[in-house]
Amino acid sequence: MRTNQPQTIYLSEYQAPAYLVDHVSLRFELFEDGARVHSTLSMRRNPAAMQSGSTLELDGDSLTLESLALNGQSLASDEYRNEGDKLVVPTVPEAFELTVVTWIEPQNNTRLEGLYKSSGMFCTQCEAEGFRCITYYPDRPDVMARFQTRVEADKSAYPILLSNGNPVEQGDLENGRHFVTWEDPFPKPAYLFALVAGDLVEKRDTFTTCSGRNIDLRIYVEARNARKCDYAMDALKRSMRWDEEVYGREYDLDIFMIVAVDDFNMGAMENKGLNIFNSSCVLASQDTATDAAFQRIEAIVAHEYFHNWSGNRVTCRDWFQLSLKEGFTVFRDSQFSADMGSPTVKRIEDATLLRTAQFAEDAGPMAHPVRPASYMEISNFYTLTIYEKGAEVVRMIHNLLGAELFRKGSDLYFDRHDGQAVTTDDFVKAMEDASGRDLGQFRLWYEQAGTPVLAVSDHYDEVQGVYRLDIRQSVPDTPGQSGKKPQHIPFAIGLLDSEGQPLPLNMGAEDSNGSFERVLELTETQHSFEFHGVKERPVPSLLRDFSAPVRVHYPWTREQLLFLMSHDPDGFNRWDAGQKLAVDVIQSLVDAPQGTEIEPRLVEAYRLLLNDTELDQALVAKMLLLPSEAYLVELSDQADVPAIHAARERVLDHLARALRDDLLACYQRNAGQGDYELTPAAIARRSLRNTALAWLLHIDDEQGRALAVEQYEQADNMTDRLGALRALVNSGFESERTRALAAFFERFQDDPQVVELWFSVQASSDRAGQLPQIQALLEHPAFDWKNPNKVRSVVGVFAGQNLAAFHNPDGSGYRFLADQVCRLDDSNPQIAARLVSPLTRWKKFSPQYSSQMKAALERIRDKTELSRDVYEVVHKSLAD
Ligand code: PHE
Ligand code: ZN
Repeated sequence: MRTNQPQTIYLSEYQAPAYLVDHVSLRFELFEDGARVHSTLSMRRNPAAMQSGSTLELDGDSLTLESLALNGQSLASDEYRNEGDKLVVPTVPEAFELTVVTWIEPQNNTRLEGLYKSSGMFCTQCEAEGFRCITYYPDRPDVMARFQTRVEADKSAYPILLSNGNPVEQGDLENGRHFVTWEDPFPKPAYLFALVAGDLVEKRDTFTTCSGRNIDLRIYVEARNARKCDYAMDALKRSMRWDEEVYGREYDLDIFMIVAVDDFNMGAMENKGLNIFNSSCVLASQDTATDAAFQRIEAIVAHEYFHNWSGNRVTCRDWFQLSLKEGFTVFRDSQFSADMGSPTVKRIEDATLLRTAQFAEDAGPMAHPVRPASYMEISNFYTLTIYEKGAEVVRMIHNLLGAELFRKGSDLYFDRHDGQAVTTDDFVKAMEDASGRDLGQFRLWYEQAGTPVLAVSDHYDEVQGVYRLDIRQSVPDTPGQSGKKPQHIPFAIGLLDSEGQPLPLNMGAEDSNGSFERVLELTETQHSFEFHGVKERPVPSLLRDFSAPVRVHYPWTREQLLFLMSHDPDGFNRWDAGQKLAVDVIQSLVDAPQGTEIEPRLVEAYRLLLNDTELDQALVAKMLLLPSEAYLVELSDQADVPAIHAARERVLDHLARALRDDLLACYQRNAGQGDYELTPAAIARRSLRNTALAWLLHIDDEQGRALAVEQYEQADNMTDRLGALRALVNSGFESERTRALAAFFERFQDDPQVVELWFSVQASSDRAGQLPQIQALLEHPAFDWKNPNKVRSVVGVFAGQNLAAFHNPDGSGYRFLADQVCRLDDSNPQIAARLVSPLTRWKKFSPQYSSQMKAALERIRDKTELSRDVYEVVHKSLAD
């Protein structure tokens, strides 16, 4: 905690570490009133370091130093300086052994960084800078060392003692205590260190690698969760196989462990050989997890597993390179999910997240490049830009090179840099070297923030049979960056004739290439592309499969969008055309007078979709979802959220009334059949059915009510039960709503993950989640300020998903959020800083709202003792 201004760290000031650590030997004595950490570091001067002199500096945070010795000689208090966040030893030899003993208090650690307790177990979180909360250490990713860890604790309370690598020794100690020693043969940065001690049960399995080695797989959970590990275990085995087949990556230790903990700031963590997961990202069963939760678990298990190569074997030189591991690993997990399910649906989901949330981030005060140039608090940079835009950048390289050369590039990258801490530039270089392609201009994707905009216009020359696309690229200014250069953008397109047939794309009079789809490579501010032999004015299909993370402006007519919705061979663009049409219709109602007619063709398009049993049902299910309020806000400037909300509700209402019978038919057609399955087809069926139900209840349909109550009671899985609950909660049927909410809580109150769903269904509902109701949820006995998932499921969901209630014109939602941020800042600054985000984009809203949002930010700014995390977000948001 601090009140003075935090320092800014610059990439340009990077210096290699002055001292390296070859080996770390740790001994943890765990007690109820604290923990003693003995650390012995074998260190030597870094031959590559620039600095001269012989001063050693180690990082530390919230530590009590008990003793310090150099080569076995205890240091007197005038032989070192304890500067709070640094321990300085003014003179050390070229090579030496340093022994540090610290005392820490995991039981009082509410920040959930370093060593802390969660539901009675000890666990760690060291990324990015948590290891310094355990002991003094050069806590930076370019210092890689071999770790040996001995954990000692009471045997009955903590029968399971885990750390990274392989167990090498264990035994009993006095006073009912015991120990286990672990050795990790792979050098690693301290952020990948992990330790767990608790009373856990284990689920075991094995995996035989491509070279025939047997790997011991274990998932550790509290006994009450023993039944909820099967899905994650299978997902893990699928991930291991996939990484061998697609990337040629084999697992390297003899054992791979996952531990589930309830209190966790993020989703999960890729610690070497010992991944630690937020319970909600690993535990699942048919009756407690939704389809979306299963898919999330599969993706996160894969993501953390894939980090073993993209992150652990090859790691980041410094935290500016965070996207080196995160962007690449998100790309890998999205390829995996696409392979396991429906590629088009996965692409739609990724693009939706990107366009709704990452574009917003990239247009706001916290905008930063995929490789940032500076930061105050690195925890604030685990962003959608680093993760999702970073993944899109890798995807573009993949698409520019093609799968084969990309694989050559990734092989070269892993081979060349195994055991090293490297930069995003090293990654791009490996791709260049393997493919022979010049990615010089492409590197701007890493350096320039902001979402590129493509303004597209077209011209058709009937006489010559030539169709021309004119494309103008611009990259908007972002904080600290203006006058940007044009980027290298792969722009995939196709052209359709009036029958919906794809036209051959011949790009010159002599060109007879005849391909129906092309990736145009944009490198200049302005391009014109001519297509020859085009017999009629075509309908363009632009940015197919979302080939680049850009905004495209083209003057679409509603006819064209309707046409693409039913004819585009590119599934993504079919969906996108429907979204654009719905956006256009909703936007046209925002400022329109009450009785304005709603586009009848939209109704007919949805009717066709609802009755279309030919088209991939997973795609239909996605196409039926109207664009979210958050997306509509992102698309507008000077947003008036209640007006946007009202317009969207009007459209939903109108569609539901006009399509009532089709909705009922769709509901019946997709009624549950047979056993619960997680195939794309079954998931699509449940999604269609629950969308139909939600729409029927939106208009308080009596038959819908009966169906919802019946579905709620008879559901054999959480997707259907929650779908029915959500529909009732968002309906006007108050007594059913109250009854279903009570029954749901009664049934699942002992399951924290389901209680979180129960909170979020209410917090996201404009009917059940107005501010007084949110305040009541915070008083609910199941709510817990110390548990990030609970905070997110009420406060985060209210401010991030219940836009109409949050943006109450009286400003009460903003003041409420400011108060919760201030309250949380003292206990968990990382979570507090993340909660601020809905306020940061205050400039985007119409004056009545923006002035009050700004006032709420100032309210946070004026709190005494603001953490560095919140300080950075608030001050950047208020800067001009
Ligand atoms: N590195 C983790 C991941 O993306 C995320 C994380 C960051 C977890 C910081 C905890 C703390 O897989
Ligand atoms: Zn990651």
